[in-house]
Amino acid sequence: MGGRFITFEGVDGSGKTTQLRRLAATLRAAGEAVVETREPGGATGAEAIRRLLVEGEPGRWSPETEILLFTAARRDHVERTIAPARARGETVLCDRFADSTRVYQGVARAGLRGMVDRLHELSIGIEPDLTLILDIDPEAALSRGLARGTAEDRFERFGLDFQQKLRAGFLALAAEFPGRCRVIRAEGSAEEVAARIAAAVMETP
Ligand code: TYD
Repeated sequence: MGGRFITFEGVDGSGKTTQLRRLAATLRAAGEAVVETREPGGATGAEAIRRLLVEGEPGRWSPETEILLFTAARRDHVERTIAPARARGETVLCDRFADSTRVYQGVARAGLRGMVDRLHELSIGIEPDLTLILDIDPEAALSRGLARGTAEDRFERFGLDFQQKLRAGFLALAAEFPGRCRVIRAEGSAEEVAARIAAAVMETP
């Protein structure tokens, strides 16, 4: 079994990355060994695939090709980073994981959820112990995301309507997997959100 595997999910700009860093600091202060990682990416090969996915025109890949690329990146990430860290007994905090593929690629074309699930079963096969779904009004989140001004805005450029569907998709996923998912209200100060997250993590063995 090994160390705990905790994932952060939510719409673009929901504050996942900041909150992941805070939780890592809190757990380390309590003496836990923590690995912070992200998807797409988190290993050398997976980071190379990330650049293919997050840069360029929104229509650069078909939804099917996108699912294959995300799954290839995830396989590399699990092999090289997540599984070894857990085997060492370390806690893994991951910014996005398979739930992002279920929601993003499932929303882009609803009929593709079956393809996502089959590929996951075939080549990934693990689920997090705890998934924190950061829930926020996409309008507020999107303005934050675009304000960052990086080259990595391919998904954010799908627009507000897409983000609203993503939010609904994440909430539906939380209802589908109630055992491991916790919906965290992501509005308010970073301190307030961090306190909600810490409470959810403490409740999980
Ligand atoms: P990320 O770096 O987490 O962006 P952000 O910090 O804005 O949330 O993820 C990059 C983009 O890739 C993001 O828009 C979500 C998308 N994505 C998918 O569409 N499917 C996936 O499986 C993953 C992991 C990410």
